[in-house]
Amino acid sequence: MNILILGCGAREDIIREKLLANSANSAKRVFVETLSKQETIEFIANNSIELVIPSSEHYLCNGYTDHINKNAPECKVFGPSLLQSHLEANKNYSKILMKTHRLPNADYTFFQTKNQCSDYFNNYNVDPNKIVLKYSGLAKGKGVYLPNENNINSCIENVYNHGSEGVLIEERLFGTEVSIMAFCNGTHAYLMPQSQDFKRKCDNDLGLNTGGMGSICPVNILSLEECEQVNEYMNKIVTHTNYIGVLYAGIMKTSDGIQFLEFNCRFGDPEAQTLLNLLESNLLAIMLKCINQESLELVWKNEYASCVIYSNESYPEFAYPLSKLTYKNNLDKKIRIYKGSLTDNNESNGGRILSVVSNSSVSQYDSLINVYNNIHKIKFPGSYYRRDIGLNYLLQTKPRKYMPMAIMATNNGTSIGTLLENRETRNAIKIIFTNNTNGSIIQTALRYKIPLLVIDTKQINYESLTNILRQFRVKLLLLSGYMRIVPKILFDDFLTVNIHPSLLPLYANKMDLEVHRSVLEDKRKFSGCTIHEVTDNVDEGRILLQKQINIEHITSPEQLKSEIQTQEKQAIYEFVELINASNGIEHKYEVNIEEANNFVSELKTKLPAIGGF
Ligand code: AMP
Ligand code: GLY
Repeated sequence: MNILILGCGAREDIIREKLLANSANSAKRVFVETLSKQETIEFIANNSIELVIPSSEHYLCNGYTDHINKNAPECKVFGPSLLQSHLEANKNYSKILMKTHRLPNADYTFFQTKNQCSDYFNNYNVDPNKIVLKYSGLAKGKGVYLPNENNINSCIENVYNHGSEGVLIEERLFGTEVSIMAFCNGTHAYLMPQSQDFKRKCDNDLGLNTGGMGSICPVNILSLEECEQVNEYMNKIVTHTNYIGVLYAGIMKTSDGIQFLEFNCRFGDPEAQTLLNLLESNLLAIMLKCINQESLELVWKNEYASCVIYSNESYPEFAYPLSKLTYKNNLDKKIRIYKGSLTDNNESNGGRILSVVSNSSVSQYDSLINVYNNIHKIKFPGSYYRRDIGLNYLLQTKPRKYMPMAIMATNNGTSIGTLLENRETRNAIKIIFTNNTNGSIIQTALRYKIPLLVIDTKQINYESLTNILRQFRVKLLLLSGYMRIVPKILFDDFLTVNIHPSLLPLYANKMDLEVHRSVLEDKRKFSGCTIHEVTDNVDEGRILLQKQINIEHITSPEQLKSEIQTQEKQAIYEFVELINASNGIEHKYEVNIEEANNFVSELKTKLPAIGGF
């Protein structure tokens, strides 16, 4: 069977991969092309195409399905007709359908002209903070504005600049968003696992809206009951419209229950890159069954997938110069790369260059770590990616219990501030080591009644230290400003992590102000900090968490240091939450209590002034 996919992004790349994957027994060719309607018909004839998948909204909302059905009737098409695609292309139509079928959704009013819209604001004293402005037509995910009293006029101006299809003013909803996609066979919506995409350009959901900067799947935002409700509502829409293809519902879980935000008539991008990586069933068979209006059974892998978009730093604002990109060198086997705005010669020609994806059978966090420890190996001038994909979702799960941990600090322990402020994480700190008799870390330990051991780093006996840690059943050892190499005996036994004031591997082996000076000299737009595992190679252990901030406003290394320190506190706190909420790393060790006790008595006699242990 010869198949044509219409589209050109990473989503189309994974659809292609999935269609080829189950084809061992049959000769099959899969083409991915961007074609006009006329060219499509010619392509079908010239290449004996039997199935076309118009994958992006561009094709679906421009009536390619109808055009192919009419002009190449032998060829099957997986995707909705022009009329059905209005669910995405015409938000006013979509809202009318939602209201007709009583789907929970925000109240709204439609305004064809800018004047009508402005009048409404002026005459009815509308609070801009309580509404959203939404262009009714297609806007590549950039047609929604959340105004406030200061920018309402420019938002009205901008939303009408998208085109002439009018604008919706919608009640603003608050809650957690989730993407639910379904394979539809004309009468039923067969739901896929819940997924989440991250639309803003920058970490912490700051910056401009984009087509999507990453995704995770599965998420567990809607309960089973809520999923069943969603299924019933989507069935109504599918039956009413005889919808065939993928139907995407953007849903917000609010304090009043689920609310439908929007429909799209296709796979989400970048949700498809995680979702399809979890699909066990044969994608081609599913598509054909949908077209034939047969019922489906979907099987999904019991795994987790994460996708991070490797993009151009200037995305989504500016034009992108052609640049050569090197990748596939030393990437982990678990990593899958899908090409977005990349030519066959590996030159980038757009904003979202690659989708970097990893599956894990262990945890979502584990799959994210896989991605983040490989994506930095891809080399491209002016590259950018978010470092916090999935983080907020994972942090919503509170650990049931915390593994005992120890801190080794040479400085004042500034970076463990947030850890200490929170009772649960503070209680998990079983002992603090320091070699600094003047630092405020000593007061901190006394205040919170945390055992403190002052050690002389020059004479330290790490074997004894290890035994003390074992006595306290420590599993996690956190180095805070401990700018020394620690021996294998520690990191073999305990998950030992350090925090570095840069986005490693950038500026590895540099310390403190030296890092910040170099960052500024290099005119970087972003910097941050990295929590990484401690191994034999200094600053080269696995990246476990990064915090990234925009630093374009910063002028001095001191100022940068202070901003990064704020990030460090947050990073350490979040890391401890994360590692405890996900499947932590097990460590097995033996306890030698006698030796540990001897070591403590010896130290007591050596350090009478502290006497604090
Ligand atoms: P849409 O294209 O309708 O999915 O809108 C894009 C994004 O705008 C959504 O993912 C939401 O973050 C936001 N959004 C859309 N409608 C609303 C609403 N009624 N209230 C709050 N946020 C919204
Ligand atoms: N990821 C959202 C979309 O594809 O519209």
